[in-house]
Amino acid sequence: MQRRRERSARFSESALRRFLRPLWYLGNNRLSQVGIVLTTASAITFITFFTTGFFGVPLGPYVGIIAVLVLPAFFALGLFLIPIGIWRRRRHERRTGRLPLEYPPIDLRRPETRETLWFVAVMTGVNLVVFLTASYGAIHHMETVEFCGTTCHTVMQPEYTAYRGDAHARVPCVDCHVGPGARWFVRSKVSGTYQIFAIMFDLYPRPIPPPIEDMRPSRETCERCHWPEKFVGDKLLVKTHFSDDETAAETKTVLLMHNGGVDPLTRKPLGSHGVHIEPGAEIAYAATDEDRRQISYVRYRKPSGEVVEYLSGDGTRQGELRRMDCMDCHNRPAHAFQLPAAAVDATLAAQLVDRTLPFVRKQAVDVLQAGPYSSHADAAAGIRARLNEFYATRYPNLIEQRRGAIDSAANVLAAIYARNVFPAMRVSWGTYANNLGHQDFPGCFRCHDGAHKSSDGREIPSACDTCHSLLALDDPDPDILKQLAAP
Ligand code: HEC
Ligand code: HEC
Ligand code: HEC
Ligand code: HEC
Ligand code: HEC
Repeated sequence: MQRRRERSARFSESALRRFLRPLWYLGNNRLSQVGIVLTTASAITFITFFTTGFFGVPLGPYVGIIAVLVLPAFFALGLFLIPIGIWRRRRHERRTGRLPLEYPPIDLRRPETRETLWFVAVMTGVNLVVFLTASYGAIHHMETVEFCGTTCHTVMQPEYTAYRGDAHARVPCVDCHVGPGARWFVRSKVSGTYQIFAIMFDLYPRPIPPPIEDMRPSRETCERCHWPEKFVGDKLLVKTHFSDDETAAETKTVLLMHNGGVDPLTRKPLGSHGVHIEPGAEIAYAATDEDRRQISYVRYRKPSGEVVEYLSGDGTRQGELRRMDCMDCHNRPAHAFQLPAAAVDATLAAQLVDRTLPFVRKQAVDVLQAGPYSSHADAAAGIRARLNEFYATRYPNLIEQRRGAIDSAANVLAAIYARNVFPAMRVSWGTYANNLGHQDFPGCFRCHDGAHKSSDGREIPSACDTCHSLLALDDPDPDILKQLAAP
């Protein structure tokens, strides 16, 4: 017993002498000390984040950038500085002939040793405070809309621009794109870090494809704010359009939208929200293309358990099955891009463009679509030049008389262009389809087209009054609006 203890004491004594003493002695230089401070502080910060992340404290999606890039960089830098410092001291002492034959023992009573320990301890403490505060601040910042929308300015510019004018302009990006909970937090952490690499090395796709396959199910995002079964009932929708002729005459299309929901009294599903979001029901589909426009198979499971399968085309099911949720209809809730005609109609209705300019609606749509323009500035100049050219050749005496109206029309059109087209990201008119409708994109008609049939002859309903009653169509003065407005 006694001998064993002696032997092990002797062993550790010699190990100390051989490794620790030289390390201790030579490591006693400022460069190595700074290295130790950096390494320790970044390691403790890293562990702090890792453990708090583990216990479910939500720290935001981009904590990954700090945890995977910034802290390890400091850690590595520290590790690199330690041997450099040792090597430099050794070289210096050898040159000046001061390198001891026998390295002095580690003695806490020596003032030099104490000074070193104090330096490392105090500086590590200070550094830790700096690291933790800085990382926390950075993560906090990365949660904000400004970070998501503007840090990688060109990349997120299309979505950020559209977002600021939409219904959800006050809902933070992360509420839809990440949502609460640890699993998606970790997922976004990984992809957030990847995104930084993608941007640094220019690996990202242009345009950025819609992420619907990777979006968190709407139950865990949208439905935290929206009560899915809420009974909306019928809603009157009035759309204002303008004609393409010289007068740009105003017309109205009036739809009574059967939005429905779950009837509060009978519990029956009604309208567009009814069967689609009824609790216990499920509609799932498979598409044969990436844009999910060719839907080959639809499965409708009723709350009773009855299942109806609808097939289109050659009658086979192809592609992966996706459970339909809010985002399959409302796929542009926060960043809807307009098409030229709708955007021009909106500005005409708001009287931002002077309707008394002849053919202004047709011209406006034409110059917006003309292009291709290489940038927003190029578009502004091109739109102005084309508009001027049209009025100069067709209405030469009008061009000076109506200078102000033509100029301000050009400005408004340039703004429409800048709101919807982003040449640097290859986002053009119609790049991102809007599924809520069927006129500009297949939308609802991807399934409600009369071509999706079950084996027993049923079909997904496609009659025009399934989703809305068309009360007036491009009518200059619809009776229905007069009746509703009548006292
Ligand atoms: C109300 C929910 C919601 C909010 C808030 C939101 N998004 Fe989205 N975002 C979506 C949905 C849904 C899609 C998928 C679109 C599709 O499938 O067509 C999407 C798609 C995207 C895309 C992929 C490209 C595209 O246009 O399809 C980007 C990039 C994006 N969002 C960025 C942002 C940024 C940046 C913010 C904050 C400034 C933000 N989003 C806020 C719901 C949201
Ligand atoms: C943080 C809460 C919140 C989240 C999350 C959220 N919404 Fe909303 N949403 C709102 C509010 C508030 C409004 C009303 C805005 C208004 O009327 O200006 C709204 C409005 C809407 C509207 C009406 C739009 C319009 O133009 O009037 C739709 C449709 C909608 N949300 C769908 C969605 C979908 C789909 C999602 C998920 C992708 C979602 N919302 C996520 C809060 C939220
Ligand atoms: C089958 C397609 C479809 C699905 C799925 C769907 N909606 Fe809708 N939703 C519509 C249509 C169509 C409208 C009416 C649009 C209009 O009035 O212009 C609408 C309108 C709305 C509105 C505005 C209601 C109002 O009072 O103006 C909100 C909010 C909304 N939906 C939220 C949701 C949420 C949340 C989900 C998921 C739980 C969802 N929707 C699922 C088609 C759908
Ligand atoms: C992925 C396929 C798919 C898409 C896309 C789709 N629907 Fe449906 N829809 C269905 C199925 C399946 C049913 C149930 C048919 C049945 O009763 O068997 C249904 C039923 C409905 C009903 C009830 C019909 C009735 O007679 O009770 C309405 C209304 C409706 N959908 C509206 C919409 C609207 C509005 C859109 C577009 C915003 C849309 N749907 C997009 C598959 C789809
Ligand atoms: C599956 C549901 C569904 C069916 C079936 C359907 N619609 Fe629609 N329709 C919609 C939705 C949703 C919108 C978009 C409302 C909005 O813009 O918010 C719409 C919009 C419209 C508009 C207005 C377009 C505009 O911007 O002025 C017209 C016109 C229209 N539908 C006509 C028809 C006709 C005609 C049929 C029959 C061939 C039909 N719809 C069948 C769901 C449907």
